[in-house]
Amino acid sequence: MKFRVRPVARLHGEAEVPGDKSVSHRSALLGALAEGVTEVQGYLEAEDCLRTITAVQALGAEVTRKGPGHYRIAGGGLRGLGEPADVVDCGNSGTTARLLAGVLAGQPFWTMLTGDASLRRRPMGRIAEPLRQMGATVVGRAEGTRLPLAIRGTAAPRAIHYTSPVASAQVKSAVLLAGLGAEGPVRVTEPAPSRDHSERILRRFGLDVTTEDRTVTLTPGPLRATSVQVPGDVSSAAFLLVAAALVGDARVTLHRVGVNPTRTGVLDVLQAMGATIATSQAADEGEPTASLTATTTALRATTIGGAHLIPRLIDEVPVLAVAAAVADGVTVVRDATELRVKESDRIAAIARQLGRMGVVIEERPDGMAITGGRRLHGAAVDSGGDHRMAMALAVAALVADGETLIDDVACVSTSYPGFAATINALAGTAAIEVEP
Ligand code: S3P
Repeated sequence: MKFRVRPVARLHGEAEVPGDKSVSHRSALLGALAEGVTEVQGYLEAEDCLRTITAVQALGAEVTRKGPGHYRIAGGGLRGLGEPADVVDCGNSGTTARLLAGVLAGQPFWTMLTGDASLRRRPMGRIAEPLRQMGATVVGRAEGTRLPLAIRGTAAPRAIHYTSPVASAQVKSAVLLAGLGAEGPVRVTEPAPSRDHSERILRRFGLDVTTEDRTVTLTPGPLRATSVQVPGDVSSAAFLLVAAALVGDARVTLHRVGVNPTRTGVLDVLQAMGATIATSQAADEGEPTASLTATTTALRATTIGGAHLIPRLIDEVPVLAVAAAVADGVTVVRDATELRVKESDRIAAIARQLGRMGVVIEERPDGMAITGGRRLHGAAVDSGGDHRMAMALAVAALVADGETLIDDVACVSTSYPGFAATINALAGTAAIEVEP
């Protein structure tokens, strides 16, 4: 599938972005582990999160779709899951694989996990190592560090204090989920705080979770079924916010966007670049939300780095690179080696694909230097099967001279199936045409 993208002069209107991917995954996993019926509204119905639903069903949870984004999950408690009859395929979803591995480390049966070609390349040693320390058996390719992995959990995981070498919410969450049935408190210390959705939603399910500096402590116990309102995904909103900043005549308002401070690095950086993003705080049902309005602005270069900032915007670097390509000056991204182990090597992908559109990017081991201020030109580019690359390239194409053809865009459905339709509605024209 391809996107044929033509530049647009204006982008106006209001939109709701789809549900937060991270919160959706967690709501399905915890709903399956809770005692009773959990109702989830605003669930992200995109491939990654549907993989998590299929996975918990394979483990025995009863999931009913009651309407768009509305799911009823009947969980049987921490001991209510059972051995799946087949290999569980996590598709493209790193969050499904890593968080589910955490859940399975506390389950006394065998499960085989696999994924697509991209996911089978991604590092799993980072979760396998602490889960083994907790008593689980984790074996698989590359000395047990790549999918497919076979996991046999234990009904009595060891209560460990794990010091993670990476600031990764997936690692932290895997350990916390494994620790739900542990005999004592489980602790995770990170080099810098990562997104805290697991901590928040575990509290919503009745667990005692405390955070002190870079250490999270979970006191194990049963999960109480609850209701979950999934906020809009700020990572999806980022594409529309950058598009609004760059398109010549734009004013775009996005409603109910999740603005959890561990996720809003993209807003801080865009503001540092001179973007005007007005925020009006809305509700806080465990996760704060707000309406965000972005308007056309002349952007200036900035530096994006530091152990405390990078985890707060790691998924937004591809689209921030597009903002930097248009901004005046040289933007440096550093301390972001993690970009190399996402759905694709995003440092290499950004440099190569935006390079085809005329952007000068110097690739570095932990980031890149992007020389902004030149006109982008339409080109034939390729997402490499990475949803965030596909959408970032589409945003670049909206402000390029001429037409851009983006190959391999079916992956957009892993996180934002309505992306092209939303852009076209805001543009008032078929700016993005989807071709087979
Ligand atoms: C996620 C954490 C991040 C992020 C991913 C979703 C999560 O990954 O990139 O898209 O939901 O926990 P890491 O934990 O590997 O940094």
